[in-house]
Amino acid sequence: MMRIKDINHVVYRHRDLDAVERFLTDFGLVVAHWTDERLYMRGTGPAPYVYVAERADTPSFGAIAFALESAEDLLAAQFLPGASEIAPLAAPGGGNCVVLTDPAGRRVELVHGIEPVETLPMRPALTLNTADMKRRFGDVQRAPRAPAQVLRLGHVALGVTDLPRCLRWYTEVLGLLPSDFVVEEQASPPVAAFLRLDRGEAWTDHHTVALFQAPEDHVHHASFEVQDLDAQFHGHAWMASRGWAPMWGVGRHILGSQIFDYWRDPSGNIVEHFTDGDLYKRDSPLGYTPASDDSLYQWGPPMTVERFLGGAC
Ligand SMILES: [Fe+2]
Repeated sequence: MMRIKDINHVVYRHRDLDAVERFLTDFGLVVAHWTDERLYMRGTGPAPYVYVAERADTPSFGAIAFALESAEDLLAAQFLPGASEIAPLAAPGGGNCVVLTDPAGRRVELVHGIEPVETLPMRPALTLNTADMKRRFGDVQRAPRAPAQVLRLGHVALGVTDLPRCLRWYTEVLGLLPSDFVVEEQASPPVAAFLRLDRGEAWTDHHTVALFQAPEDHVHHASFEVQDLDAQFHGHAWMASRGWAPMWGVGRHILGSQIFDYWRDPSGNIVEHFTDGDLYKRDSPLGYTPASDDSLYQWGPPMTVERFLGGAC
């Protein structure tokens, strides 16, 4: 089966690319490339871009792109249901792409052969002293007041009108594995599903795609990994000081355990900083969790599932 190596980038369409560039820079991404119509932003990792902003009269979501393991996987991808032929990517780093459409009508790109770039310097993770394990001797703790440096894109969360159909597509066509189902009652179909990559014996994020039942098909958020808890809080203070709109955070989720912090971009989309998420592998067990506000977070500002997923924060 075709194997996905990682989520690669997201594409959003915005009216004002200058405003988006200011927002994403404060969010911790770095400008990689500008054209008249597109802004490419990168993290500190080797991907030449993780976020593409396209100029458009009407803001909308453009695409989710996943990187494939091999050129053979790309050849196989063009035989998936509804797949395009292989086409070159006109973007930094080149590469090739097969385009699919998920059951919600969303553009899903499978990419391969994008040239990696030099990584950027990143503040090392802080050495933490816990009550029963001291690791820092004679050194002080001084994380900088600055944007939370983004390392990489980690996951997307999608509201879908037909969860069973989307779940089948993401697991059977893309080969993702379920990590957790949220259910209303025991043995009832899930109302939310957290899906990870199949990386065999290698550890991978608890979820790369999250799906939840919703009245409309939409992208709820895209999530980017930052270094540690101090990056989260310094990043939060930085974003607030620059006047951006907080959505929810800082807190810690239950399913996936990430420390989260959600923000709204100038077009109203939600983007998330995350750190310290759970790692699973192919044979990690599938979990079932009852749907309730208690399934949403361990700690953080008060929130309900309805407000969070409805986006009315
Ligand atoms: Fe998330």
